[in-house]
Amino acid sequence: MLSGAGLSTESGIPDYRGATGSLRRHTPMTYQEFVGSVEGRRRYWARSHLGWRTIARAAPNDGHRAVAVLRAAGHLSGVITQNVDGLHQAAGTPDVVELHGSLDRVICLDCGRTGDREELDHRLRAANPAFGGTADRINPDGDVELADEDVRDFQLVDCRDCGSGILKPDVVFFGESVPRPRVQRCYQLVDEADALLVLGSSLAVMSGLRFVRHAAKAGKPVLLVNRGQTRGDSCATVRVALPLGEALTDLAARLGHPVPDHGQRSDRTGSPPWPVSSHCRPRRATPSGTASTAAGTDASTGPSAPSP
Ligand SMILES: NC(=O)c1ccc[n+]([C@@H]2O[C@H](COP(=O)([O-])OP(=O)(O)OC[C@H]3O[C@@H](n4cnc5c(N)ncnc54)[C@H](O)[C@@H]3O)[C@@H](O)[C@H]2O)c1
Ligand SMILES: [Zn+2]
Repeated sequence: MLSGAGLSTESGIPDYRGATGSLRRHTPMTYQEFVGSVEGRRRYWARSHLGWRTIARAAPNDGHRAVAVLRAAGHLSGVITQNVDGLHQAAGTPDVVELHGSLDRVICLDCGRTGDREELDHRLRAANPAFGGTADRINPDGDVELADEDVRDFQLVDCRDCGSGILKPDVVFFGESVPRPRVQRCYQLVDEADALLVLGSSLAVMSGLRFVRHAAKAGKPVLLVNRGQTRGDSCATVRVALPLGEALTDLAARLGHPVPDHGQRSDRTGSPPWPVSSHCRPRRATPSGTASTAAGTDASTGPSAPSP
C-alpha cells in the first residue's frame, strides 16, 4: 500500500492538490532555498516552530486505523507512505516506510546525525522566549504563514553534536531526492506484493508514481482510492472515489475486521461529495461505492520532488 496526503486530510492536515489543497495558496520551500541562505532557514524554522505543534497534535483518523487493522490481519504486506506526519505509526502500523521522511526528526547537514524534533522544539523555545503567536492555518509542510517582520528576529540553533551544523527536518524537500536505499526498499515491497493499493495521493510527483508504474508494468492490479484524478489513472485496474475513512472502515468490516471506533468523526457523508470524473469508464462496482477504470490521464504535473 502506498498512501499520500489525502489519507491525513480527515485528521485536519491539508493536502497539496486536493479540493482545498495548499499549493493553491502556498509555495513550499525548496531544498535549494533552505541550504542557500540563513534567511531561508530562518524563515523555514520560524514558520515551522509554530506550525509543527499542530502537526504533532494531529490524531490518526478512521483511515489510518483501518490500515493498521488490515496490516495486522495480513491483508497488507507492506505500508509505504509519502506522508511526513507519523499518523500511520500513531495508529499502530509497524514497519512503515516513510518515503519522504518524517517531521518529528531533525538531521544535521554537516555531521549527518539525526535528533528528536521535540528536543529541538524545546531549544528553539528557549532561544526565542518572546516568539509567540498561534497557527490558525497550517500548511502541509508543518508551517504557517508569517510576515517577514515576524521572522526577522527568530534565533536559529546549531547541531548539538558537532556544534555548528545546519539542522534540517528529516524530510525530503522539493528539489531533493529520496535516498536510493529507501527507494529500493519500496520497489522490493511492491515486487513482493500481489497488488498495489494507493490511498489518497494525486501521484503528481514521480517519487510515488514510479511504484505505480512499476506494479502495472509487472502486471499487478493497481487499486486507487482517491478523490479526483491522479497521474496514475492510466495504470489503475480499479478506481474508487469515496472518502478514505469511510471506504477503508467499510472494507475492513467486510473482510471481517471491524475498525475500533475512537469517537472521532471522519468525513462520512454516505456518498462521494465530489463527482466521479467523466473520463473514467465504469467497469467494476465495489461494495462501497463507485469504481472505474481510467481511460488514461496525465493531467497534473508537479514539482520534481515532494516537500514535507
Ligand atoms: N500529511 C502529510 O504528511 C502531508 C500533507 C501534504 C503533503 N505532504 C507531502 O507532499 C506530497 C503530496 O503528494 P500526495 O500525492 O501525497 O498528495 P496530493 O495533495 O498531491 O494529493 C492528495 C489527493 O488525495 C485526495 N483526497 C484528499 N482527501 C481525501 C479523502 N478524505 N478521501 C479521498 N481522497 C482524498 C485529493 O483529492 C488529492 O487527489 C507528499 O509526497 C508528501 O510528502 C505530506
Ligand atoms: Zn552536526
